[in-house]
Amino acid sequence: MKRDELEEILEANRYYIRGGKLANYIPELANANPNTLGITIAYSNGEIISVGNCEEMFTIQSISKIISLIMALQDHGHEKVFSIVGMESSGEPFNSVSELETKESHKPLNPLINAGAIAVASMIKGQNVNERFSKVCQFLYRITGNENVTLNRRVYESERETGDRNRSLAYFMKSTGVIKSDVEEALDLYFRLCSISVTCSDLAKIGLFLAMGGIGQGSQLKKVSPEIVQFVLSIMLTAGMYNQSGECMMKIGVPAKSGVSGGILAVAPNQMGIGIIGPSINDKGNSIAGLKILEDISRRYKLHLF
Ligand code: DON
Repeated sequence: MKRDELEEILEANRYYIRGGKLANYIPELANANPNTLGITIAYSNGEIISVGNCEEMFTIQSISKIISLIMALQDHGHEKVFSIVGMESSGEPFNSVSELETKESHKPLNPLINAGAIAVASMIKGQNVNERFSKVCQFLYRITGNENVTLNRRVYESERETGDRNRSLAYFMKSTGVIKSDVEEALDLYFRLCSISVTCSDLAKIGLFLAMGGIGQGSQLKKVSPEIVQFVLSIMLTAGMYNQSGECMMKIGVPAKSGVSGGILAVAPNQMGIGIIGPSINDKGNSIAGLKILEDISRRYKLHLF
């Protein structure tokens, strides 16, 4: 894809930054610049094209859930991981409390909703939270080559101060035996993982890593088994955009994962990784401009899987 084509897509969708609003239930996220808009595509031939505000850092938020899942799958294998978290899309908001009690014998429905991601974070191996967190950062550094992919302390503190909904999910899961380790440590790791700073170029590189079956580029080579990549892309396809996943499957048709700071990571298998930032989100927690851009990219370049 040519840079001017990507610029055209960005400008054609700039209008949509006015829709929706910034996430404010984590107060620090409300300080984002709503006019930020950026796209990066990382291609399988190593080429990277970025347009708009691509070097601006924002927190990864729920996109970290795919990284935690990779870590837990590497640490334990899929049988153990999917014995504590389901594989089904939820149809409820990402932070739903009710379904935890009423569905799948108290097991979170999938690893990409908050409950599932906290349960998954509780499984990541390491002596303490610092060690587990730096294991994840190291993994991301090896894929992105960006040493600024680290904790945004202000967002982390804001998450921790206002994370009572997540605490309620975690303590409920402790009571039902889904979380077996220390709940506060699981929550602390989850809050830190959501607060990792990235650019949309970093997201595109992570996307490319998944698009190429878990094989990194050049000297930063980092391998994840094809089986793990298959699990992660499958769950992204069915649940990555929460209760808008069905619509995204129809209109975009590639695995994608969103975060409430307005980031979207998408994967066109064997072709490219896509990273988008547009901080205004809809009531499902997905970037409004980001979705429109992704739809255009998918249509224009025939990325839909079917
Ligand atoms: O725990 C939370 O609610 C946030 N740290 C992450 C939620 C999120 O990104 C949902 N995605 N759209």
